[in-house]
Amino acid sequence: MMQASIPRLSAQGAEIPAIGSGTSQLGNCGENVATALKLGYRHIDTAWTYGNEKDAGVGIRATGVPRKEIFLVTKVSHENLRAADFARSVDESLKNLQVDYVDLLHVHWPSPEKIPLGETMGALAKAKRDGLARHIGVANFNTALLGEAMRLCPEPLVTLQAEYHPYLDQSKLLAFCRRVGLIFTAFCPLGRGRLFKDPVLSDIARDKGKTIAQIALRWLVQQGNIAAIPRSANPEHMAESLTVFNFTLTDEEMEKIFALRRPDGRIANPAGRVSAWD
Ligand SMILES: NC(=O)c1ccc[n+]([C@@H]2O[C@H](COP(=O)([O-])OP(=O)(O)OC[C@H]3O[C@@H](n4cnc5c(N)ncnc54)[C@H](OP(=O)(O)O)[C@@H]3O)[C@@H](O)[C@H]2O)c1
Repeated sequence: MMQASIPRLSAQGAEIPAIGSGTSQLGNCGENVATALKLGYRHIDTAWTYGNEKDAGVGIRATGVPRKEIFLVTKVSHENLRAADFARSVDESLKNLQVDYVDLLHVHWPSPEKIPLGETMGALAKAKRDGLARHIGVANFNTALLGEAMRLCPEPLVTLQAEYHPYLDQSKLLAFCRRVGLIFTAFCPLGRGRLFKDPVLSDIARDKGKTIAQIALRWLVQQGNIAAIPRSANPEHMAESLTVFNFTLTDEEMEKIFALRRPDGRIANPAGRVSAWD
């Protein structure tokens, strides 16, 4: 299979490939992760809650791609944010993945009302200091909580992972990340498939001779400081999603896509998990 080369984004010594492969709800996870790696993906996004870390690990080992070439990510779930639970969860993830360390460890969702954020950030920093994670970050934090997390964490965060696609306005969170030097990692970058019938994206895709997925991903990475982690079980789609660095969108096209933001654009919003989005 053809190998693509993917630009990397830097923060605090972390070098994060700008396109990664998501694994939430990914069927045949092992096989699909292996295909992604053969196609040139070097950023694999997993989580303890996805229940497929073992399969992802099998896929990684099957390819023979050296471990050090892969930017491997996992996350600790909101119910495991007490220090002892956190440590147990990290241990389990490493065993599932059959690795000694992950490149990036996230708090998957915040839970500050139930568990003091300071305890969680201490546990996250400890995983890094113990060599179990090269870098650390948080997911699904709003700007207020992210600022608090950075203040409480004894080690630097490198990225915030949050939902971002043309239907969701993330200007405030993105500006905050830029200001404090965090990479923004966009999950659900294709709006979990909701973008594919959009007439504006469809027109731009036709004009450019690209697909809607490529236009949506290009719009994200062209903004700068953004990595995106689409999930696919289709090798043609996987290859397509990597090929977004050989064309550019005009300012007018970028603005047309920004204008697609809508108040009901958010997809990942489990009841009661985050009280106030930005
Ligand atoms: N931190 C968090 O709380 C959080 C929450 C949600 C997601 N995530 C991460 O973000 C990843 C991506 O988000 P997601 O899985 O929700 O949704 P997504 O990547 O926005 O959308 C996935 C859908 O898009 C299709 N697709 C992918 N590439 C395509 C392409 N090039 N052309 C056409 N269709 C394409 C896939 O179908 P095919 O399989 O047919 O290609 C699938 O139906 C997750 O897998 C997970 O790793 C994190």
